[in-house]
Amino acid sequence: MSIRTLDDLLAEGVAGRRVLVRADLNVPLDKQSGAISDDGRIRAVLPTLGALVEAGAKVVVCSHLGRPKGAPDPQFSLRPVAGRLGELLGAPVHFATDTVGDSARSTVADLADGQVALLENLRFNAGETSKDEAERGAFADQLAAFGDAYVDDAFGAVHRKHASVFDVPARLPHVAGRLVLREVEVLSKLTGDPERPYVVVLGGSKVSDKLAVIEALLPTVDRLLIGGGMCFTFLKAQGLEVGTSLLEKDMVETCRNLLERSNGKILLPVDVVVADAFAPDAAHDTVRVDGIPSHRLGLDVGPETVAGFTAALSPAKTIFWNGPMGVFEMPAFAAGTRGIAEAITKADAFSVVGGGDSAAAVRALGLDETSFGHISTGGGASLEYLEGKALPGIAALEN
Ligand code: 3PG
Ligand code: MG
Repeated sequence: MSIRTLDDLLAEGVAGRRVLVRADLNVPLDKQSGAISDDGRIRAVLPTLGALVEAGAKVVVCSHLGRPKGAPDPQFSLRPVAGRLGELLGAPVHFATDTVGDSARSTVADLADGQVALLENLRFNAGETSKDEAERGAFADQLAAFGDAYVDDAFGAVHRKHASVFDVPARLPHVAGRLVLREVEVLSKLTGDPERPYVVVLGGSKVSDKLAVIEALLPTVDRLLIGGGMCFTFLKAQGLEVGTSLLEKDMVETCRNLLERSNGKILLPVDVVVADAFAPDAAHDTVRVDGIPSHRLGLDVGPETVAGFTAALSPAKTIFWNGPMGVFEMPAFAAGTRGIAEAITKADAFSVVGGGDSAAAVRALGLDETSFGHISTGGGASLEYLEGKALPGIAALEN
C-alpha cells in the first residue's frame, strides 16, 4: 500500500506545470442569502493549495457543491466559493463558468505560474457521478486534459466512485494532498488499536445512513451513545411511543436487533425536548422518553441525557463523534449538541469529530476547535473509513 504524496510531487518540481486538485468545497450555504455559512472545508485545503502556489504551479481546482442533477443549476454554483477562496489565499481565484467547456479551457490556458483557477461544479456534468464507466471515463478524459498531475485533497468525497475522484487519477500521475493524508492518519488510529475506553457518539437524522457503521463499531467500542433524530427509531424499538418525531418505520426491527446484540453498550436518551412544530419559536418542553405526547416531536436530547452521556464520556481515552444531538441550528434545540460537545472537550481523550454537520455545529456554537483532537472534513467518508470499507478515492491513489 504505497501512496505518493504532495511532498513527492513538490520534490519533482511543479513550477510551470498544471496541477489538477480535486477538493471538497461542498460548504453549507445560507438558504436565504446564499452566503457561505461555514468555510471550514475551504480553509482545510489551504495547506495544499498554498504549497502548490508557492512552488509556482498552475493550480486548477475542481469540486462538487450540493447535489445538482448532472446539469447546471445556479443555486449550486461554486462562484461564491471562488471569492472566499481568493480572500483566504490572498490572491484572486480565476473562476470558470463551466467545468470542461470553453470557459474552463480558456481559464486554464490563461493561468500564469502560481495562479489558481476554480472550475464550475463538477456535478453540473452527468459524467461526474454516472454509474456507466464509459460516460464517467469520457468526462474524466476532459478533466484530465487540464492537468499534468493530479492531487486528491477531497477527503469528504473519497467514498464516492466519481469521475474526478476515481477515474482521473487513473489518467494522470497522482498524489494525496495534505488534508487527505492527515485525515487518513488520524482515522487509522481509531481503526487500529484505540486507547480505551473508546466511546462513540452518533447523532443526525437518519438511522439508515448509520446502520453499517453501528454494525461495524459494536464489537470494537466500549460505549455507543445515540442521540439526534435517529434515536427515535431506537426508542420505538424499545416499545416507546415517539409522537410525531422522526421515525424510520422500516428500521425499527433492525434497531431492536442491534439493541439485543449490543451487550448493553448502546446508551439511548432518557429525556428529550419535544415541540409542537419543527420551528425555532415552537412551544417546547422536556419530557421523559416514556412520556412523549402523541402530537409532539422530539428536537433535542434533554439535560438528564446530557448528564448521562457526559458520565459515559468522561473516562474515555478515545472518542469519535458524528452527528448533532438535536436541531442545533435553532437555539431552543441546541443545548444537547452543545452539552455533548463540551463533555467531549472536557474528557482527557483523543477526540475526533467527523461529519460536515458536527464540524459546522462545533463552529456555529462558538466552541473552541482546538480543544478537539481532530475535526474531520468528511461525514460519509469518515464513517465508511471506520466501517473498514475500501474507499474508491484512496484505492485510486494506491494504484
Ligand atoms: C459531503 O458533504 O458529505 C461530501 O461533500 C460528499 O457529498 P455527497 O454526500 O453529496 O456525495
Ligand atoms: Mg454527505
